[in-house]
Amino acid sequence: MTATSSKVVDIHTHMYPSTYIKLLESRDSIPLIRRFPGVKDPRYVILDAEAKLLDAQDGDSQLPGRPITSHYSSLEQKIHFMNTHKIDISVISLANPWLDFIATDEAEEMAQSVNQEFSQMCAQHPGRLFFFATLPLTAPLNALLSSIEHLKTLKYCRGVILGTSGLGKGLDDSDLEPVFAALAANKLTIFLHPHYGLPNEVWGPKADEYGHILPLALGFPMETTIAVARMYLAGVFDKFADLRLLLAHSGGTLPFLAGRIESCIVHDGYWVREGKAGPSRRTIWEVLKTQVHLDAVVYSEVGLQAAIAASGVDRLMFGTDHPFFPPLNSDEQGEWESMTWNLKAVCKALGDGSEENKAVMGNNAIRVLRLDEQD
Ligand code: URA
Ligand code: ZN
Repeated sequence: MTATSSKVVDIHTHMYPSTYIKLLESRDSIPLIRRFPGVKDPRYVILDAEAKLLDAQDGDSQLPGRPITSHYSSLEQKIHFMNTHKIDISVISLANPWLDFIATDEAEEMAQSVNQEFSQMCAQHPGRLFFFATLPLTAPLNALLSSIEHLKTLKYCRGVILGTSGLGKGLDDSDLEPVFAALAANKLTIFLHPHYGLPNEVWGPKADEYGHILPLALGFPMETTIAVARMYLAGVFDKFADLRLLLAHSGGTLPFLAGRIESCIVHDGYWVREGKAGPSRRTIWEVLKTQVHLDAVVYSEVGLQAAIAASGVDRLMFGTDHPFFPPLNSDEQGEWESMTWNLKAVCKALGDGSEENKAVMGNNAIRVLRLDEQD
């Protein structure tokens, strides 16, 4: 099994720069990083569902969060991971929950410092690293817009990573329109990534026993699906025809559910009520084929086939989600299943060495995100 790509590009790979780590270490409410007596690595706690475990710590109980190893912050580790897995280029991004929790008057400075640190990392490995910037979404709108303008000056920036909360009311909020307009005008792709999942009650009374499985496997993809469906219903894609989204985890469940979404829209009479019914209306299928790109982080050829059928093989881009999901054998310097399972899925779906395989493994990302340009 080989990628046989001219270049392998990882577009879904995270880092927490040192300023962000320091901030999390200084906090005493979620999200936070905390050390526990007798435990080697500090724990990184980001899911609200873990508040109970965090409060209940008595030395014996299950630890909250996950270990935060040097893989989250060390550039050397990122490069080692890339070299081990023959990844030529990585487009790094801050992971969740980004700056969603930062006070209004601190957000702009924090975003600047995170983006600056990412820029410096990329400059140390020119051509091998690019990044999706972080936006100060809790800052006043003029500061938010000027921070988007500033991204133009950052040589290795190719877009922004965005959660689903927007300015607090989701991505179908009309107050976000100037932000979408600025991102579209500056050709900054939005890498849309989940964090909040679904309300804890849906996981049932045994949720604690199931660890992170249900929120990550199901909550995350549903969150992305809902966010994009809401944007579509609000007409965001029509208003901003130049807006481009890259959806995490192969679009959540959108490729599978787009038909059902369309059917429900039509039966609801929504477009008639909105005065937008008729042949010129773009279906969600059309949006998926023109304004949306999908990552290939779905770990199976079945999911990839749905993504390809929905958006096209020229819109799918390989990713690993490193450094989440560390190796099962605990050798973090060795092979990570998040690479090999996703690579295997691409090979199974598209064949070893095919042009389509090369496209997904790297060529699509190079074309779409201009990774062959250094400025
Ligand atoms: N992958 C991420 O990017 N974030 C998580 O919290 C878990 C997996
Ligand atoms: Zn991720």
